Amino acid sequence: MDKSTIVCRCEEINIDEIESAINMGAHTFNDIKRLTRCGMGPCQAKFCMNLVRKIISEKTGQSLKDIKPPRMRVPLGVTRMSALASNKASSVASVFGESAEEGETDHEEEL
Ligand code: FES
Repeated sequence: MDKSTIVCRCEEINIDEIESAINMGAHTFNDIKRLTRCGMGPCQAKFCMNLVRKIISEKTGQSLKDIKPPRMRVPLGVTRMSALASNKASSVASVFGESAEEGETDHEEEL
């Protein structure tokens, strides 16, 4: 792949920027995230995580299984402000994939 190939589409970070961060001492996804913003986009690294981990593995010689995914921040999906403001824990879908409160529709239908 060309060094200008975009790895993180959300933050427009290319391979060269990832490798530069590794050359500066980054050895974890979170290190790269802090240096480049890679993984901080709307998808929260869902698209770039495995590619970045593979680059880290290749450049540092670490086993792929030893490179942890980046720290995730909630909410992990589209969430209506009214759901957050209602102060009902069950009105916001769980980060573990549980469904929203019974009778509540998918958030995207209301947008
Ligand atoms: S592709 Fe990297 S944060 Fe979305």
